[in-house]
Amino acid sequence: MKKLFLGVLSLLCAICASADGGMWLPSLVSERIDDMAAKGFKLTAEDVYSINRASLKDAVVLFGGGCTGELISGSGLLITNHHCGYSHIQRHSSVEHDYLKDGFWSKNTAEELPCEGLSVSFLEYMREVTAEVLEGWEPGMDEASREDIVKVNGEKIVAAEKEAHPGLKVSVEPLFMGNQYFLFAYRVYTDVRLVGCPPSSIGKFGGDTDNWMWPRHTGDFSLFRVYAGADNLPADYSPDNVPFKPRKFFPISTAGVKEGDFTFIYGFPGSTQEYIHSAAVRYIAEKSDPAKIGLRSLRLDAQKKHMARSQKVRIQYSAKNASVANAWKKWQGEALGIRRNGVVDAKREYEKRLSAWAAGTRFEGICDSLERVYAELEPYKFALEIYNESAAVVEIARAAAAFVAEEDAAKREKALKAFYKDWYLPIDKESFEAVMTRFSELIAEDQRPSYFNESLQLYGSVNVWADSLFRSSAFASESKAFALSPEQAEQDPAYVFYKSMRDWAQEYAMPQIRRINRRLDLLNREYMQAQMSFEKDKNFFPDANLTLRVAYGNVKGYEPSDGVRYKPVSTLKGVMEKDNPEIFDYNIPQELRDLYASGDYSQVPVCFLATNHTTGGNSGSPVINAEGKLIGVNFDRVWEGTMSDIAFDPYFCRNIALDIRYALFIIKELGKADNIISELVLEP
Ligand code: ARG
Ligand code: ASP
Repeated sequence: MKKLFLGVLSLLCAICASADGGMWLPSLVSERIDDMAAKGFKLTAEDVYSINRASLKDAVVLFGGGCTGELISGSGLLITNHHCGYSHIQRHSSVEHDYLKDGFWSKNTAEELPCEGLSVSFLEYMREVTAEVLEGWEPGMDEASREDIVKVNGEKIVAAEKEAHPGLKVSVEPLFMGNQYFLFAYRVYTDVRLVGCPPSSIGKFGGDTDNWMWPRHTGDFSLFRVYAGADNLPADYSPDNVPFKPRKFFPISTAGVKEGDFTFIYGFPGSTQEYIHSAAVRYIAEKSDPAKIGLRSLRLDAQKKHMARSQKVRIQYSAKNASVANAWKKWQGEALGIRRNGVVDAKREYEKRLSAWAAGTRFEGICDSLERVYAELEPYKFALEIYNESAAVVEIARAAAAFVAEEDAAKREKALKAFYKDWYLPIDKESFEAVMTRFSELIAEDQRPSYFNESLQLYGSVNVWADSLFRSSAFASESKAFALSPEQAEQDPAYVFYKSMRDWAQEYAMPQIRRINRRLDLLNREYMQAQMSFEKDKNFFPDANLTLRVAYGNVKGYEPSDGVRYKPVSTLKGVMEKDNPEIFDYNIPQELRDLYASGDYSQVPVCFLATNHTTGGNSGSPVINAEGKLIGVNFDRVWEGTMSDIAFDPYFCRNIALDIRYALFIIKELGKADNIISELVLEP
């Protein structure tokens, strides 16, 4: 009896726990401001988001396509994470100028490095457009018609808005599973230059060993500058452009943080699934995550082996390796957290209660329907996910596909050059062998592409097949590839592989997924409404979708397991404790060792933990104190809490931020970049 009671209690707690957290829409922050004030926030809703005057939102940008950054000077200086700037730092790096290894500090604006393809987007305004998007739709219409209506109306709204506000980028996005629609208007700046970054041994200190973990000692920041035309408006790169003057930038607090302090995060969280059915969570934790983790382990093994052997290969694969390893490790924490916190059982319990409540209403039977439809979806979704993590990541095949798809010869050559700069055949071939072997184990013979089965039969094994493909493909040799015509490329074995596998994904999996998803979209939309009516008093936030959000919480440690308590702050002392010249991830620059020995630096703050609800995309987000000053730069979450994309548990879920004072310390003492420090506004 007692055991049962405890079991029920823990289930209920998992649910009440998921009531915390939240990523709120800035334009609706007035609904949260009393709660924020009660927790210590001193500013007003207008200070956070305003369309009439400068507000904090004007200092926050979507950095590239998936990170956040914030303005920290009146001359367009921006800070984000080292890992967000990583691919640009990598692109400027070679064995001669290895900015990954040595860091980079410009001494003046002339030394800043233009970053082709990098843009930053400022949100100008947002507003609800649900009624306009759904004009002409009536309940009971089939999903395909609804999709059409939403698409056509959405395009009309975007076109009208662009005409009324030339120069803005406009999009309409669904919220709450399509129960609401909002319009977002951005100003996009495309001349962004690298100003400075620490060496990776600081900016990526701890590497993938410490990634997603606490205690953490990573100086994960990099500095860029936004440039504009003479009118302060966006302009493509030109040496004549001038530093952008933001409406608002963050003053930096040097006062420091302590446990309990209010913190607030402003940024672009990418994607969460807080309201999905238990069947979808079970699939993620028990089937999808484990299979994807397995496939990525295989590729990481091949990368690790060859990266350890050559500095050139290490540079070539550093960015690719980091991105493969990142999700690989996150999925492990996520699957673990879902299991350990009993999220599937807690959701089932919740669904039972909701179903009982729903009897006799229009939501009757909704949970059972979701369960059935998810079961139908599963094999196709699984096949697509396996394809995405196996055939679709074969680099030589992707290069061939890009070559065939590009009609412009000059662009084709440029893409080829970029491909060969960072490609190492043995890694690609060994990855091919490993992931395609795994593919044959995960996908039943009668479901596989016939091309795959025939190739296996022809060659006898994946490895012999790989020998042949990598020997006979012209793309295996840079000079041969440059001599190819697009027609020849279409006959190339690398392209044939790409096309046959892709066609299979598109013909076997995609139509079924689309068909079933239509039913799921409708059910999920209804289910969202059901949840909101079932829990009338709960404050629901819309799932993240890479639109600007506000999250708030406080600085706080946690207890990862019995008998262990983590403090919320880390210091330079911990960097020195981990320092080890023998281990790549922990080998700090000699200058930092010398500096440490030269004075009393043990208490220099490095990172801190807080309870803000964040996800991928929040990297680089400003961590702001009660007065609206910058105290940190968000960059990660803790291992035990990465399931927060699905279920936020305030007991385990923590975001990890770089303490802004560590960035100041590194810029000044290691980078000797007083030119950068003098641009900042430092306040106690
Ligand atoms: N885990 C963080 C995020 O999801 C940081 C990743 C970059 N670092 C790395 N070692 N791969 O982006
Ligand atoms: N590191 C993530 C990012 O790059 C943040 C997170 O997932 O917590 O956005």
